[in-house]
Amino acid sequence: MIDLTPPRDTLDPIEVASRDEIEALQLERLKWSLAHAYENVPFYRAKFDAAGVHPDDLKSLKDLAKFPFTVKSDLRDNYPFGLFAVPRERISRLHASSGTTGKPTVVGYTAKDIDTWATVVARSIRASGGKPGDIIHVAYGYGLFTGGLGAHYGAEKLGCTVVPVSGGMTERQVTLIEDFRPSVIMVTPSYMLSILDQYRAAGLDPAQSPLKVGIFGAEPWTNAMRQEIEQAFNMHAVDIYGLSEVIGPGVANECVETKDGLHIWEDHFYPEIINPETGEPVEDGEMGELVFTTLTKEGMPIIRYRTRDLTRLLPGTARSMRRMEKVTGRSDDMIILRGVNVFPTQIEEQLLKCKGLAPHFQIELTREGRMDALTVHCEHMGEAGSAGASAKELAHHIKSVVGITARIEVHEPEGVARSQGKAQRVVDNRPKG
Ligand code: DLL
Repeated sequence: MIDLTPPRDTLDPIEVASRDEIEALQLERLKWSLAHAYENVPFYRAKFDAAGVHPDDLKSLKDLAKFPFTVKSDLRDNYPFGLFAVPRERISRLHASSGTTGKPTVVGYTAKDIDTWATVVARSIRASGGKPGDIIHVAYGYGLFTGGLGAHYGAEKLGCTVVPVSGGMTERQVTLIEDFRPSVIMVTPSYMLSILDQYRAAGLDPAQSPLKVGIFGAEPWTNAMRQEIEQAFNMHAVDIYGLSEVIGPGVANECVETKDGLHIWEDHFYPEIINPETGEPVEDGEMGELVFTTLTKEGMPIIRYRTRDLTRLLPGTARSMRRMEKVTGRSDDMIILRGVNVFPTQIEEQLLKCKGLAPHFQIELTREGRMDALTVHCEHMGEAGSAGASAKELAHHIKSVVGITARIEVHEPEGVARSQGKAQRVVDNRPKG
């Protein structure tokens, strides 16, 4: 693969500033953000008052731990615009997440917030190996989801030519990649696998595609998946992280030269890791739940938002800003099977070891008697005769590495539902209640 390391002099100065400079900027911005939330959002004022804290109590970054958390249900309870810190007329964009139950969660951006967002996405694309003048194929969904428009504005800000394809119509995706010859693609990793299938179905060699780098996120994916995609397309596969409550894509991104976890753009988003049970902050290096406070957002500042994503903080490498380890699971996605905690990414890792199986999968949970059972639905690569041996191999890997007994159902190619955006990895068919 070609070296796409961006020249040092093209980075934003803060990306390579000293830790002291970064922390001084964070403290100044954090004071502003807490005061902005307190003065303009009744929800925050009431919450801080009830906890007996005031923005003036923040003297050092560590003091943030005195402030109360914000959780997803707070957004629902204040639906639709209750957490906005500016008059609605100053909000220039809304996004929302669908949410499986009840009301969606709504977020709002001022024009300045949209510009901040474009800046961090532009920085993310550059860290991934993209540069001004590149053609970028955006296959994240456009609409209320933040993926498409977030990627789009960042790519334009960096000075790229954007192809706003959105998700779906996989055949057309491949035609456009072959005809327009983008060097960068931004898409969920699971949908990239559908694009890969389509390349092969069309009789094209993915290794000959014009793509040099893929910027993949919006769902957990493993290093095993990275290798699979990098080898098939002869391209770099880089991880982008974000969430709508904080801004959207571009909260953190890997650097193409190291691919060792995601540098958090700490000049705009202040990270903490907490023990999910006690809520106490843990030291850098320890695993826990990721919590974010926005430092510059005007429209909807968010204070100590509990993401439910599990990771740990690590020191900077390619940049001075701290890294977060690749998120391998959300506490919401954790399956507890007969006392053993399992994340879908652990199944993905084992599946990718089995050469006879395609990388598509879905996990089904059922109840048999009083026991929960887990079935992995996957596909063979076109040789039905090898399905039995592959099933045995996968069951063995899962048993010996993950520690659970899984039933494996190997379907024909195309037998597992394809993702066009975020993959649904778990289908829970256990009786409710
Ligand atoms: O998924 C924003 C995004 C769009 C990120 C495109 C990257 C690329 P939400 O729909 O609010 O926003 O979902 C946020 O998705 O809390 C994580 O659980 C998960 N997630 C996002 N990026 C990653 C990643 C967008 N790189 C939720 N690895 C987050 C693992 C991720 N999980």
